[in-house]
Amino acid sequence: MLKLIPQVKEINIDNSKFMRVNHIALAENLLSDNAVKDFLDFCRLPAGETNIFFEEESSFDEEEYSIFISDKITVKSSSVSGQIHALQTLKQIIFQCKGHIPFLQIHDKPKYKIRGFMLDAGRYFYSVSDVKKIIRRMALHKLNFFHFHLTEDQGWRVETEKYPLLTEKGSKRSRTNFDHKPHSGYYTKNDIKEIVRYAHDFGIKVMPEFDIPGHSRAAIACYKELSCFERDLPVADHWGVKHDVLCVGKDSTFEFVYNVIDELCEMFPDEYIHIGGDEVVKHRWNLCPHCTAKRKELGIEDSDGLQFWFMNRVKEYCEAKGKKVFMWSWELENDNSIDADLGFTKCAEMNTGDRPFIDTSTDAYYIDLPYGKVSLKNTADHKPLSGNCLGVEATLWTEYVPDLKKGDRMSFPRVGAMSETGWSGSCSYADFEKKLRFYYSYLDENNIGYSNIGTANPNALKGALEVLWFERRQLAWEGLHNIFDDKKIEKLAKNINR
Ligand code: ACM
Ligand code: ZN
Repeated sequence: MLKLIPQVKEINIDNSKFMRVNHIALAENLLSDNAVKDFLDFCRLPAGETNIFFEEESSFDEEEYSIFISDKITVKSSSVSGQIHALQTLKQIIFQCKGHIPFLQIHDKPKYKIRGFMLDAGRYFYSVSDVKKIIRRMALHKLNFFHFHLTEDQGWRVETEKYPLLTEKGSKRSRTNFDHKPHSGYYTKNDIKEIVRYAHDFGIKVMPEFDIPGHSRAAIACYKELSCFERDLPVADHWGVKHDVLCVGKDSTFEFVYNVIDELCEMFPDEYIHIGGDEVVKHRWNLCPHCTAKRKELGIEDSDGLQFWFMNRVKEYCEAKGKKVFMWSWELENDNSIDADLGFTKCAEMNTGDRPFIDTSTDAYYIDLPYGKVSLKNTADHKPLSGNCLGVEATLWTEYVPDLKKGDRMSFPRVGAMSETGWSGSCSYADFEKKLRFYYSYLDENNIGYSNIGTANPNALKGALEVLWFERRQLAWEGLHNIFDDKKIEKLAKNINR
């Protein structure tokens, strides 16, 4: 029985007739050189007489395709996206059938418009070559949306012309609290161009994330006037939520934000941008003369309201540049002051009204979390959150994922299960488990690492120990540090306001 991940919509197999495939030659097509190379490198078959043909089927949706296998292989689609997905399906068929393929017909298209993968390149920098590998891993799973988390407390990862310090200084930290070594790295504008082009070659759109007004310590380390109290602070070298965030009471902060967005929009031509909005501690805003004055001027009741005002304003700026805007869903339940069309990357079931969202549920798709917290079963059995769901996204946060080797072990097999939900609309662990042996052998064939089943579905004791080990790192020192640091700021603010 042919196994396919993600499951195709319709398949008919005639097991009485077979096509022998001992060479591969593609007829004229719309595919990029990189997509063709990926296919041919995988098949490792000699060239010969044309045996894969492409036809236009204008009634098909953008990502829809069909495959007919008889004495030749015919792919029908309305666009290059359909051809890209068809090749990925063919790779799995050729791999399993070992050159002896039953006559078959497949008709396939995705349930969800967005099937995403987020890389946090802020906590750890991933080389262009690794990012390209991630893009190929995405294409393999028919994912089409690369969410590129580029700015963090622990590092600024993208070149800008207007603010050279962001990369000169902001891309470096003195040590990590994982391996205690200095860490640095950033993408030049040319690197970004190369990454975006490569993603497009595989039918993948790229959404940059500029995480504001929190998670901005790297930027503040370079330009302290961006913060409320303008202290000299280093690029963060510890994980945890930082209390020094962008000051939203100063017009100059907006000037900075808009200038960065201008450059991001030039680098990232796809229609999406993410503006963060997560984990914004309001301690400084409540004491800052600029922020409190702005809040009074606007008649906004509290600092949560001030954040929504900030997010809406930045969103409108991005929209005027033709972008669809996303932010993280945290803390925003039921809040009507957030614009109705602002999209969320949504981390849990909560009331986000009719607003569009991408399901990034922490208990299913936070693939940086230990398997003891988010098992393969959890991921596979997850049902997309209710409401206006555009799709699903796996998020690879990297506090504890310093390289792609660990990234692969965290991503797979969970991303395989998520791709089932995103593409076919549903997944169950019972069904996915039946395909696991095939999936692992297919990952092996593609030189992709993964966690084996004992790791991916740990027993209760192993899972609990894993979670303890993981949580211990979040404890003590960051919390204590914040308490003392908050006291310092409170004193400072009293002096300023006196
Ligand atoms: C998040 O988990 N910081 C969005
Ligand atoms: Zn302020």
